[in-house]
Amino acid sequence: MSRPRWSERLAVAQASRARSDALRRRRVVERVEGVHVVVDGQPLINFCSNDYLGLAGSLDAVSALQEAAAWHGVGSGASALVSGHHVLHARFEREAAEWMGYERALYFPSGYTANLAVLQALLDGGDLCVQDKLNHACLLDGARLAGAELKRYPHRDFGGALRQLQSMPEAAAVLATDSVFSMDGDVAPLRELALAATGEHALFVVDEAHGVGVMGPEGRGACAAANLSARDVPALVAPLGKAFGGQGALVFGGTSLIEHLLQSARPYVFSTAGAPALAAAMSANLEAVRSQGWRRAKLASLVARFRRGALRHGLPVLESNTPIQPLVLGGNSRALAVARVLEQQGFWVAPIRPPTVPDGKARLRITLTAAHTEIEVDALVDVLASCLEDIDTGA
Ligand SMILES: Cc1ncc(COP(=O)(O)O)c(C=O)c1O
Repeated sequence: MSRPRWSERLAVAQASRARSDALRRRRVVERVEGVHVVVDGQPLINFCSNDYLGLAGSLDAVSALQEAAAWHGVGSGASALVSGHHVLHARFEREAAEWMGYERALYFPSGYTANLAVLQALLDGGDLCVQDKLNHACLLDGARLAGAELKRYPHRDFGGALRQLQSMPEAAAVLATDSVFSMDGDVAPLRELALAATGEHALFVVDEAHGVGVMGPEGRGACAAANLSARDVPALVAPLGKAFGGQGALVFGGTSLIEHLLQSARPYVFSTAGAPALAAAMSANLEAVRSQGWRRAKLASLVARFRRGALRHGLPVLESNTPIQPLVLGGNSRALAVARVLEQQGFWVAPIRPPTVPDGKARLRITLTAAHTEIEVDALVDVLASCLEDIDTGA
Protein backbone atom coordinates (compact mmCIF):
# COMPACT_ATOMS: atom_id res chain seq x y z
CA MET A 1 0.00 0.00 0.00
CA SER A 2 1.35 3.43 -0.87
CA ARG A 3 0.84 6.65 1.05
CA PRO A 4 -2.14 8.70 -0.25
CA ARG A 5 -1.14 11.74 -2.34
CA TRP A 6 -2.23 15.11 -0.92
CA SER A 7 -2.98 16.61 -4.34
CA GLU A 8 -5.46 13.80 -5.02
CA ARG A 9 -7.04 14.06 -1.61
CA LEU A 10 -7.61 17.83 -1.89
CA ALA A 11 -8.99 17.49 -5.42
CA VAL A 12 -11.46 14.79 -4.34
CA ALA A 13 -12.68 16.90 -1.38
CA GLN A 14 -13.12 19.97 -3.58
CA ALA A 15 -14.96 18.02 -6.30
CA SER A 16 -17.33 16.56 -3.72
CA ARG A 17 -18.15 20.06 -2.39
CA ALA A 18 -18.77 21.30 -5.92
CA ARG A 19 -21.11 18.35 -6.71
CA SER A 20 -23.32 19.17 -3.71
CA ASP A 21 -23.41 22.96 -4.27
CA ALA A 22 -21.47 23.35 -1.03
CA LEU A 23 -18.52 25.33 -2.35
CA ARG A 24 -18.23 28.66 -0.56
CA ARG A 25 -16.84 31.83 -1.97
CA ARG A 26 -15.57 34.91 -0.17
CA ARG A 27 -17.09 38.15 -1.35
CA VAL A 28 -15.08 41.34 -1.34
CA VAL A 29 -16.66 44.23 0.54
CA GLU A 30 -15.33 47.43 -0.96
CA ARG A 31 -17.29 50.10 0.92
CA VAL A 32 -19.41 50.22 4.05
CA GLU A 33 -21.86 52.90 5.12
CA GLY A 34 -23.95 51.17 7.77
CA VAL A 35 -26.02 48.53 6.01
CA HIS A 36 -25.24 50.04 2.59
CA VAL A 37 -22.29 48.19 1.14
CA VAL A 38 -20.53 47.78 -2.19
CA VAL A 39 -19.70 44.13 -2.77
CA ASP A 40 -17.63 43.06 -5.77
CA GLY A 41 -18.57 46.36 -7.41
CA GLN A 42 -22.30 46.09 -6.71
CA PRO A 43 -24.23 48.31 -4.24
CA LEU A 44 -26.31 46.13 -1.88
CA ILE A 45 -28.29 46.40 1.34
CA ASN A 46 -26.67 44.08 3.85
CA PHE A 47 -29.11 41.69 5.56
CA CYS A 48 -26.46 39.21 6.73
CA SER A 49 -24.24 41.07 9.17
CA ASN A 50 -24.26 40.57 12.94
CA ASP A 51 -23.75 44.27 13.64
CA TYR A 52 -27.14 44.18 15.40
CA LEU A 53 -26.98 47.63 16.99
CA GLY A 54 -25.22 49.37 14.10
CA LEU A 55 -22.16 50.09 16.25
CA ALA A 56 -19.44 48.82 13.89
CA GLY A 57 -19.18 52.29 12.38
CA SER A 58 -19.80 54.25 15.58
CA LEU A 59 -17.91 57.55 15.40
CA ASP A 60 -17.08 57.41 19.12
CA ALA A 61 -15.53 53.96 18.69
CA VAL A 62 -13.63 54.96 15.56
CA SER A 63 -12.10 58.01 17.25
CA ALA A 64 -11.28 55.99 20.42
CA LEU A 65 -9.51 53.45 18.20
CA GLN A 66 -7.59 56.13 16.28
CA GLU A 67 -6.44 57.91 19.41
CA ALA A 68 -5.44 54.66 21.14
CA ALA A 69 -3.53 53.47 18.06
CA ALA A 70 -1.57 56.73 18.08
CA TRP A 71 -0.38 55.96 21.63
CA HIS A 72 -0.24 52.16 21.71
CA GLY A 73 0.34 51.20 18.07
CA VAL A 74 -1.67 48.67 16.08
CA GLY A 75 -0.66 45.59 18.04
CA SER A 76 -0.15 44.49 21.65
CA GLY A 77 3.34 43.16 20.98
CA ALA A 78 3.12 39.93 22.99
CA SER A 79 0.83 37.54 24.82
CA ALA A 80 -0.92 39.03 27.86
CA LEU A 81 1.29 37.17 30.36
CA VAL A 82 4.50 38.43 28.76
CA SER A 83 4.07 42.13 27.94
CA GLY A 84 0.88 42.38 25.84
CA HIS A 85 -1.59 43.38 28.60
CA HIS A 86 -2.08 47.16 28.27
CA VAL A 87 -3.90 49.66 30.43
CA LEU A 88 -6.70 49.82 27.80
CA HIS A 89 -7.37 46.08 28.19
CA ALA A 90 -7.33 46.42 31.99
CA ARG A 91 -9.75 49.37 31.88
CA PHE A 92 -12.14 47.59 29.50
CA GLU A 93 -12.16 44.43 31.64
CA ARG A 94 -12.95 46.49 34.78
CA GLU A 95 -15.75 48.49 33.12
CA ALA A 96 -17.28 45.38 31.59
CA ALA A 97 -17.22 43.33 34.81
CA GLU A 98 -18.94 46.17 36.67
CA TRP A 99 -21.61 46.48 33.93
CA MET A 100 -22.31 42.73 33.84
CA GLY A 101 -22.28 42.24 37.62
CA TYR A 102 -19.32 39.83 37.79
CA GLU A 103 -16.17 39.97 39.91
CA ARG A 104 -13.86 39.79 36.91
CA ALA A 105 -13.72 39.80 33.11
CA LEU A 106 -10.99 38.51 30.80
CA TYR A 107 -10.53 39.91 27.28
CA PHE A 108 -9.79 37.49 24.41
CA PRO A 109 -8.98 38.30 20.77
CA SER A 110 -11.96 36.25 19.50
CA GLY A 111 -15.14 34.52 20.63
CA TYR A 112 -13.99 31.24 19.12
CA THR A 113 -10.82 31.17 21.22
CA ALA A 114 -12.65 32.36 24.35
CA ASN A 115 -15.11 29.46 24.25
CA LEU A 116 -12.36 27.02 23.34
CA ALA A 117 -10.25 28.33 26.23
CA VAL A 118 -12.99 28.12 28.88
CA LEU A 119 -13.81 24.48 28.16
CA GLN A 120 -10.19 23.38 27.64
CA ALA A 121 -9.10 25.01 30.90
CA LEU A 122 -12.01 23.69 32.97
CA LEU A 123 -12.24 20.11 31.72
CA ASP A 124 -9.89 17.13 31.70
CA GLY A 125 -10.07 13.67 30.17
CA GLY A 126 -12.79 11.66 31.98
CA ASP A 127 -14.86 14.79 32.81
CA LEU A 128 -18.31 15.31 31.35
CA CYS A 129 -19.43 18.11 29.02
CA VAL A 130 -23.16 18.25 28.26
CA GLN A 131 -24.21 20.47 25.36
CA ASP A 132 -27.19 21.38 23.17
CA LYS A 133 -27.05 19.69 19.75
CA LEU A 134 -27.13 23.08 18.02
CA ASN A 135 -24.37 24.75 20.06
CA HIS A 136 -21.81 26.74 18.13
CA ALA A 137 -18.80 24.82 16.78
CA CYS A 138 -16.38 26.45 19.25
CA LEU A 139 -18.14 24.99 22.30
CA LEU A 140 -18.09 21.53 20.72
CA ASP A 141 -14.44 21.96 19.74
CA GLY A 142 -13.56 23.13 23.28
CA ALA A 143 -14.93 19.94 24.83
CA ARG A 144 -13.03 17.89 22.26
CA LEU A 145 -9.80 19.79 22.89
CA ALA A 146 -10.16 19.08 26.62
CA GLY A 147 -10.59 15.36 25.89
CA ALA A 148 -13.80 15.36 27.96
CA GLU A 149 -16.77 13.03 27.39
CA LEU A 150 -19.07 15.13 25.16
CA LYS A 151 -22.80 14.34 25.39
CA ARG A 152 -25.24 16.31 23.26
CA TYR A 153 -28.95 16.63 24.09
CA PRO A 154 -31.76 17.35 21.61
CA HIS A 155 -32.17 21.05 20.88
CA ARG A 156 -33.52 23.02 23.91
CA ASP A 157 -34.45 19.80 25.76
CA PHE A 158 -33.56 20.63 29.37
CA GLY A 159 -34.93 17.25 30.56
CA GLY A 160 -32.42 15.62 28.21
CA ALA A 161 -29.65 17.81 29.61
CA LEU A 162 -30.52 16.75 33.15
CA ARG A 163 -30.57 13.04 32.21
CA GLN A 164 -27.16 13.34 30.57
CA LEU A 165 -25.71 15.06 33.64
CA GLN A 166 -27.15 12.27 35.80
CA SER A 167 -25.66 9.58 33.53
CA MET A 168 -22.15 10.22 34.94
CA PRO A 169 -22.77 11.26 38.57
CA GLU A 170 -19.15 10.83 39.63
CA ALA A 171 -17.61 12.98 36.89
CA ALA A 172 -16.80 16.69 37.18
CA ALA A 173 -19.30 18.26 34.77
CA VAL A 174 -19.95 21.35 32.67
CA LEU A 175 -23.30 22.19 31.09
CA ALA A 176 -22.74 24.52 28.12
CA THR A 177 -25.21 26.27 25.84
CA ASP A 178 -25.53 29.15 23.42
CA SER A 179 -28.06 31.65 24.81
CA VAL A 180 -29.40 32.58 21.35
CA PHE A 181 -28.72 29.92 18.72
CA SER A 182 -26.74 31.36 15.87
CA MET A 183 -28.43 29.62 12.94
CA ASP A 184 -32.00 29.28 14.29
CA GLY A 185 -32.33 32.49 16.31
CA ASP A 186 -34.26 30.85 19.15
CA VAL A 187 -33.36 31.16 22.83
CA ALA A 188 -32.20 28.38 25.19
CA PRO A 189 -34.37 27.53 28.23
CA LEU A 190 -31.78 29.26 30.41
CA ARG A 191 -33.61 29.16 33.75
CA GLU A 192 -34.33 25.43 33.51
CA LEU A 193 -30.77 24.67 32.41
CA ALA A 194 -29.36 26.75 35.28
CA LEU A 195 -31.52 24.75 37.72
CA ALA A 196 -30.37 21.44 36.22
CA ALA A 197 -26.73 22.53 36.48
CA THR A 198 -27.08 23.71 40.08
CA GLY A 199 -28.94 20.53 41.13
CA GLU A 200 -26.22 18.35 39.59
CA HIS A 201 -23.25 20.45 40.81
CA ALA A 202 -22.27 21.10 37.21
CA LEU A 203 -20.71 24.38 36.11
CA PHE A 204 -23.05 26.30 33.80
CA VAL A 205 -21.30 27.99 30.83
CA VAL A 206 -23.31 30.27 28.53
CA ASP A 207 -22.15 31.71 25.21
CA GLU A 208 -24.00 35.02 24.81
CA ALA A 209 -22.64 35.81 21.31
CA HIS A 210 -26.09 36.72 19.95
CA GLY A 211 -27.73 37.77 23.21
CA VAL A 212 -25.35 40.34 24.64
CA GLY A 213 -26.15 43.91 23.61
CA VAL A 214 -29.47 42.86 22.12
CA MET A 215 -31.39 41.51 25.12
CA GLY A 216 -31.74 42.26 28.82
CA PRO A 217 -31.47 45.42 30.90
CA GLU A 218 -28.68 47.69 29.57
CA GLY A 219 -28.02 45.00 26.94
CA ARG A 220 -26.62 42.55 29.48
CA GLY A 221 -27.93 39.62 27.44
CA ALA A 222 -30.36 36.72 27.52
CA CYS A 223 -29.24 35.45 30.95
CA ALA A 224 -29.91 38.86 32.49
CA ALA A 225 -33.26 38.97 30.66
CA ALA A 226 -34.07 35.62 32.32
CA ASN A 227 -33.10 37.11 35.70
CA LEU A 228 -30.03 34.93 36.06
CA SER A 229 -27.08 36.34 37.96
CA ALA A 230 -23.37 35.57 38.26
CA ARG A 231 -24.23 32.94 40.86
CA ASP A 232 -26.48 31.04 38.38
CA VAL A 233 -24.09 31.40 35.42
CA PRO A 234 -20.55 31.13 36.82
CA ALA A 235 -18.95 31.44 33.36
CA LEU A 236 -20.47 33.72 30.72
CA VAL A 237 -18.80 34.33 27.36
CA ALA A 238 -19.64 37.52 25.44
CA PRO A 239 -18.12 37.68 21.94
CA LEU A 240 -17.79 41.26 20.67
CA GLY A 241 -18.02 40.69 16.92
CA LYS A 242 -21.82 41.02 16.88
CA ALA A 243 -23.75 43.71 18.81
CA PHE A 244 -20.53 45.32 20.00
CA GLY A 245 -19.57 45.86 16.36
CA GLY A 246 -15.92 44.92 16.87
CA GLN A 247 -13.87 41.87 17.57
CA GLY A 248 -12.76 39.85 20.58
CA ALA A 249 -14.67 38.45 23.55
CA LEU A 250 -15.05 38.84 27.27
CA VAL A 251 -15.25 35.91 29.65
CA PHE A 252 -17.04 36.85 32.87
CA GLY A 253 -16.56 34.91 36.09
CA GLY A 254 -15.47 34.97 39.69
CA THR A 255 -11.87 35.69 40.63
CA SER A 256 -10.90 32.04 41.06
CA LEU A 257 -12.30 31.05 37.65
CA ILE A 258 -10.65 33.96 35.83
CA GLU A 259 -7.30 33.35 37.57
CA HIS A 260 -7.53 29.69 36.55
CA LEU A 261 -8.11 30.71 32.90
CA LEU A 262 -5.20 33.14 33.04
CA GLN A 263 -2.86 30.39 34.18
CA SER A 264 -4.08 27.45 32.16
CA ALA A 265 -6.19 28.35 29.12
CA ARG A 266 -3.88 27.48 26.24
CA PRO A 267 -5.59 29.75 23.65
CA TYR A 268 -5.02 32.65 26.10
CA VAL A 269 -1.52 31.83 27.31
CA PHE A 270 -0.03 30.98 23.91
CA SER A 271 -1.51 33.73 21.75
CA THR A 272 -0.73 37.43 21.20
CA ALA A 273 -3.10 39.67 23.18
CA GLY A 274 -5.71 41.60 21.16
CA ALA A 275 -4.86 45.08 19.87
CA PRO A 276 -5.14 47.62 22.72
CA ALA A 277 -6.72 50.13 20.31
CA LEU A 278 -9.54 47.68 19.69
CA ALA A 279 -10.10 47.36 23.45
CA ALA A 280 -10.45 51.17 23.54
CA ALA A 281 -13.03 51.03 20.74
CA MET A 282 -14.92 48.29 22.60
CA SER A 283 -14.94 50.45 25.76
CA ALA A 284 -16.61 53.20 23.71
CA ASN A 285 -19.16 50.76 22.34
CA LEU A 286 -19.81 49.32 25.81
CA GLU A 287 -20.96 52.79 26.82
CA ALA A 288 -23.28 52.87 23.78
CA VAL A 289 -24.63 49.35 24.45
CA ARG A 290 -25.33 50.37 28.00
CA SER A 291 -26.90 53.77 27.53
CA GLN A 292 -28.44 53.78 24.03
CA GLY A 293 -31.54 51.69 24.68
CA TRP A 294 -33.17 53.28 21.61
CA ARG A 295 -31.01 51.00 19.43
CA ARG A 296 -32.53 47.88 21.05
CA ALA A 297 -36.03 49.36 20.84
CA LYS A 298 -35.64 50.14 17.13
CA LEU A 299 -34.22 46.69 16.45
CA ALA A 300 -37.10 44.99 18.30
CA SER A 301 -39.64 46.98 16.31
CA LEU A 302 -37.96 46.07 12.98
CA VAL A 303 -37.89 42.37 13.98
CA ALA A 304 -41.62 42.49 14.76
CA ARG A 305 -42.31 44.29 11.46
CA PHE A 306 -40.30 41.74 9.46
CA ARG A 307 -42.15 38.84 11.10
CA ARG A 308 -45.58 40.36 10.51
CA GLY A 309 -44.74 40.81 6.83
CA ALA A 310 -43.15 37.37 6.46
CA LEU A 311 -46.08 35.60 8.10
CA ARG A 312 -48.59 37.59 6.02
CA HIS A 313 -46.85 36.27 2.89
CA GLY A 314 -46.59 32.71 4.29
CA LEU A 315 -42.77 32.74 4.22
CA PRO A 316 -41.23 29.73 6.00
CA VAL A 317 -39.51 31.68 8.81
CA LEU A 318 -38.51 29.81 11.97
CA GLU A 319 -39.98 30.66 15.40
CA SER A 320 -37.60 33.41 16.47
CA ASN A 321 -38.08 36.80 18.06
CA THR A 322 -34.42 37.74 17.85
CA PRO A 323 -32.68 39.64 15.01
CA ILE A 324 -31.78 36.25 13.48
CA GLN A 325 -34.66 35.37 11.16
CA PRO A 326 -33.85 32.18 9.25
CA LEU A 327 -35.78 31.10 6.18
CA VAL A 328 -35.18 27.36 5.84
CA LEU A 329 -35.20 26.41 2.14
CA GLY A 330 -33.98 22.79 2.19
CA GLY A 331 -31.48 21.91 -0.53
CA ASN A 332 -28.31 23.84 -1.17
CA SER A 333 -29.24 24.69 -4.75
CA ARG A 334 -32.57 26.24 -3.71
CA ALA A 335 -30.87 28.42 -1.10
CA LEU A 336 -28.27 29.50 -3.66
CA ALA A 337 -30.92 30.31 -6.25
CA VAL A 338 -32.97 32.49 -3.89
CA ALA A 339 -29.85 34.31 -2.65
CA ARG A 340 -28.84 35.00 -6.25
CA VAL A 341 -32.22 36.52 -7.14
CA LEU A 342 -32.18 38.65 -3.97
CA GLU A 343 -28.78 39.96 -4.92
CA GLN A 344 -29.99 40.89 -8.39
CA GLN A 345 -32.65 42.98 -6.61
CA GLY A 346 -30.07 44.71 -4.38
CA PHE A 347 -30.28 42.64 -1.17
CA TRP A 348 -27.37 40.71 0.32
CA VAL A 349 -28.34 37.58 2.31
CA ALA A 350 -25.64 34.92 2.27
CA PRO A 351 -26.97 31.36 1.90
CA ILE A 352 -25.97 29.12 4.82
CA ARG A 353 -25.26 25.52 3.94
CA PRO A 354 -23.83 22.39 5.60
CA PRO A 355 -21.63 21.90 7.56
CA THR A 356 -22.79 25.12 9.29
CA VAL A 357 -26.37 23.71 9.32
CA PRO A 358 -27.54 20.07 9.02
CA ASP A 359 -27.90 18.46 5.55
CA GLY A 360 -31.18 19.36 3.87
CA LYS A 361 -31.63 22.49 6.03
CA ALA A 362 -29.84 25.09 3.94
CA ARG A 363 -31.26 28.52 4.63
CA LEU A 364 -31.14 32.22 4.26
CA ARG A 365 -30.06 33.56 7.63
CA ILE A 366 -31.58 37.01 7.51
CA THR A 367 -30.29 39.37 10.18
CA LEU A 368 -31.87 42.67 11.10
CA THR A 369 -30.03 45.58 12.63
CA ALA A 370 -30.88 48.92 14.20
CA ALA A 371 -29.30 50.54 11.13
CA HIS A 372 -32.02 49.25 8.76
CA THR A 373 -35.11 51.30 7.96
CA GLU A 374 -38.74 50.16 7.89
CA ILE A 375 -38.78 50.78 4.12
CA GLU A 376 -35.78 48.47 3.63
CA VAL A 377 -37.33 45.73 5.76
CA ASP A 378 -40.67 45.94 3.90
CA ALA A 379 -38.84 45.86 0.55
CA LEU A 380 -36.92 42.73 1.57
CA VAL A 381 -40.14 40.94 2.56
CA ASP A 382 -41.80 41.83 -0.77
CA VAL A 383 -38.81 40.66 -2.80
CA LEU A 384 -38.57 37.42 -0.80
CA ALA A 385 -42.24 36.66 -1.34
CA SER A 386 -42.15 37.20 -5.10
CA CYS A 387 -38.83 35.42 -5.50
CA LEU A 388 -39.99 32.28 -3.64
CA GLU A 389 -43.20 32.24 -5.67
CA ASP A 390 -41.24 32.50 -8.95
CA ILE A 391 -38.79 29.75 -7.96
CA ASP A 392 -41.55 27.42 -6.75
CA THR A 393 -43.67 27.91 -9.88
CA GLY A 394 -40.58 27.62 -12.10
CA ALA A 395 -41.24 31.12 -13.51
C1 LIG B 1 -22.72 31.45 19.09
C2 LIG B 1 -21.35 31.89 18.68
N1 LIG B 1 -20.33 31.75 19.54
C3 LIG B 1 -19.08 32.11 19.21
C4 LIG B 1 -18.79 32.63 17.97
C5 LIG B 1 -17.37 32.97 17.65
O1 LIG B 1 -17.11 34.30 17.93
P1 LIG B 1 -15.97 35.08 17.10
O2 LIG B 1 -16.56 35.35 15.75
O3 LIG B 1 -15.73 36.29 17.92
O4 LIG B 1 -14.79 34.17 17.02
C6 LIG B 1 -19.84 32.81 17.04
C7 LIG B 1 -19.66 33.37 15.69
O5 LIG B 1 -18.81 33.83 15.14
C8 LIG B 1 -21.14 32.44 17.40
O6 LIG B 1 -22.15 32.58 16.54
